[in-house]
Amino acid sequence: MNRRGAGVDAGDEVANRVALITGASRGIGAEVARLLGAAGLHVLVNYREKAARANTVVDAIRMAGGHASAAGADVCDEAAVKALLADVGERFATLDVLVLNASGGLERGADPGYAMRLNRDAQLRLATLALPLMPAGARIVFVTSHQAHFYPAKPVPDGYEPIAQSKRAGEDALLAVKPALADRGIALKVVSGDMIDGTIIVRLLQRRDPAAVDARRNQAVLPTVDEFAAAIAQAALDSDHRDTTYVGGADYLIAVAHE
Ligand SMILES: NC(=O)c1ccc[n+]([C@@H]2O[C@H](COP(=O)([O-])OP(=O)(O)OC[C@H]3O[C@@H](n4cnc5c(N)ncnc54)[C@H](OP(=O)(O)O)[C@@H]3O)[C@@H](O)[C@H]2O)c1
Repeated sequence: MNRRGAGVDAGDEVANRVALITGASRGIGAEVARLLGAAGLHVLVNYREKAARANTVVDAIRMAGGHASAAGADVCDEAAVKALLADVGERFATLDVLVLNASGGLERGADPGYAMRLNRDAQLRLATLALPLMPAGARIVFVTSHQAHFYPAKPVPDGYEPIAQSKRAGEDALLAVKPALADRGIALKVVSGDMIDGTIIVRLLQRRDPAAVDARRNQAVLPTVDEFAAAIAQAALDSDHRDTTYVGGADYLIAVAHE
């Protein structure tokens, strides 16, 4: 751990392949970390400030026989990201999977520019800075929501627009560098999900805009964290996986098919 509080903890034995999952201290990212750990990768469980939660995820992966380390860094903090990647380079000399899962903007007190800094700028910067560690055959997975992926074609819940806009901008920024990634043999995959049942975000949206959440529930049963995480892990692991995977929200896909 370096002076900025960023870096990879002194962890256990090293597996052959290494995956960094941003925002893996809870929710969907934590479940993706468990799945990639079970698949035999050394998992770097990134968190912003909840080190204890990240360590719980690391412990669970190790208890299940996998390899993992907690990897602290606010992805918006360029110096912290560089320090984290320097640690990864020193310790593992490779990064085979990068799951861009960390996201935000609905936090209390977040300034108006925060969503764009986190959901667009930080995603592209991390992907770009990680490239020197990523060999041919490596994979970047961008995690998004249908509310963002289909923005602005479809309405979004009250208060979610800055997140939808910035996550869409993040996806577009990554897609713009996809050919350059492909030149290096690195694949970019997108996994988009409907509202995911039981998550903190959906509970928050339920309070702000209950009608929007009810409207999604009326379409179909919302996907679970396990289902969404399984699709993300599959996109990270399957060599011939489709470019964009959709989880839930069949009505979004029908609407797009007819446009
Ligand atoms: N929830 C849904 O209904 C839903 C639906 C579709 C798609 N998604 C997508 O799935 C992904 C995960 O969603 P979630 O609901 O599991 O999120 P979440 O519960 O809000 O978890 C956010 C995670 O991101 C971390 N994080 C936040 N800001 C960060 C930063 N600046 N740097 C590093 N880490 C940061 C948090 O770390 P700390 O704990 O340390 O703060 C936490 O681990 C997001 O990309 C989201 O858009 C979610």
